[in-house]
Amino acid sequence: MNYKEALQNNIFKIISQSAQDLKLDAYVIGGFVRDYILQRGNAKDIDIVAIGSGIALAKHVAKHLPNEPKVQVFKTYGTAMLRYEDVEIEFVGARKESYTENSRNPSVENGTLQDDQNRRDFTINALALSLNATNFGDLLDPFGGISDLNKNIIRTPLDPDITYSDDPLRMMRAIRFATQLNFKIETKSLEAISRNNKRIKIITNERIVTELNKILESETPSIGFLLLEKTGLLQYILPELTALKGIDEVEGQRHKDNFYHTLEVVDNIAKHTPNLWLRWAALLHDIGKAPTKRFSKKVGWTFHGHEFEGSKMVFHLFKRLKMPLNDKMKFVQKMVFMSSRPIVLANDEVTDSAVRRLVFDAGDYVDDLMTLCEADITTKNPKKFKKYHNNFKIVREKIIEVEARDHIRNFQPPISGEEIMETFNLKPCREIGVIKEAIKEAILEGDIPNEHEAAYQLMLKKGEKLGLKTSV
Ligand code: CTP
Repeated sequence: MNYKEALQNNIFKIISQSAQDLKLDAYVIGGFVRDYILQRGNAKDIDIVAIGSGIALAKHVAKHLPNEPKVQVFKTYGTAMLRYEDVEIEFVGARKESYTENSRNPSVENGTLQDDQNRRDFTINALALSLNATNFGDLLDPFGGISDLNKNIIRTPLDPDITYSDDPLRMMRAIRFATQLNFKIETKSLEAISRNNKRIKIITNERIVTELNKILESETPSIGFLLLEKTGLLQYILPELTALKGIDEVEGQRHKDNFYHTLEVVDNIAKHTPNLWLRWAALLHDIGKAPTKRFSKKVGWTFHGHEFEGSKMVFHLFKRLKMPLNDKMKFVQKMVFMSSRPIVLANDEVTDSAVRRLVFDAGDYVDDLMTLCEADITTKNPKKFKKYHNNFKIVREKIIEVEARDHIRNFQPPISGEEIMETFNLKPCREIGVIKEAIKEAILEGDIPNEHEAAYQLMLKKGEKLGLKTSV
């Protein structure tokens, strides 16, 4: 088969010519070829394998490109990278590799194209297109990668125990590709992942999180999390989630399986937002339920305070996985902490003051919070499903209404502490806080509008009650 049309970008002609100049063979390999055949859109990464020195080829190519881009060389791996337009091109010499037991870093020997294809992770990632003048565009597919692409199968070129044990990150990659592409992992391969799952421990958290993020960014993230659970990987990566598994029954009373519920919520939210951090919030929104689960004869199963507990766990989880401890983490914490607020609201009649308080507490994130809570409705009772969605619709409408009138989002008190001090000729003291709180409460309750004049009058009244004298 020939795929010349995949190689129309001028860069391939330049690489081809450079390879000829250096008298070596070169091929495009891996994700670029796979994604071209799957028509997955424009590639941002191109991997080139040279039968010889990848570094020398990269340097030669750079010389023939406009403005001679910088070549980044990674000597230990024998690889080099350059940027052309907005594409990263990585060059590597074909290798035979063997890995050591406790590290992903292989010891490297020069090899043939076939050796190089052998050591790649999946048949669909081992496809190569020739850049050589004699057979430019020819496909080299020694393991039936095209057939696997057509059959939607993830399969390793070698015995899966070898492929996964060589580089345990590939266990996550298999599951990530299965999720992104909606492919099945071959049974033999899935069994090998289960057998080798402990070896995930030698992989750095950063790399694990990259794969988790890609799973979460997929159309149906549950595919990946179910596979992670089934193969036993999840207990090493996110034990907070496996702790949610199972249904307990005491005196005939059962609670729902919060693990499967969580996955439903994640799939639901994926239909409504591309925001990775909101998807993380959906994944973690119930993690506080495992440590707070109690049974009492009077009320049955409860998870009191699980939102607070869960938000604390978010911090520890992010820290353990070396995820950013910045505003993204705080956002996820806030979503988890507030995750039950709208549902409580939607259970009763939706009042203006309750909506104002919700907007006050959630600030700019109130829409994200609503999206999370709508995704959280997984009841199979159609009457309840409809009732909750209808009530949430009312909440959303009221949020807009209240916002237009009262400007609660990012609330700035209409009367500042300084103004209170000046009015009553005060030094910093407790009374200032009391007055400010009274004004805020009155606005949230709807007793006064969020305006200076009304707040000023209330301040005078409150001050008088507290025995304060105005300075004028
Ligand atoms: N590869 C591998 N084992 C790994 C990582 C990568 O064998 N643990 C090989 C595969 O042939 C892969 C290529 O290196 O196709 C490039 O890897 P990478 O850029 O990480 O992945 P892509 O397959 O390009 O896919 P994506 O960009 O979606 O990550």
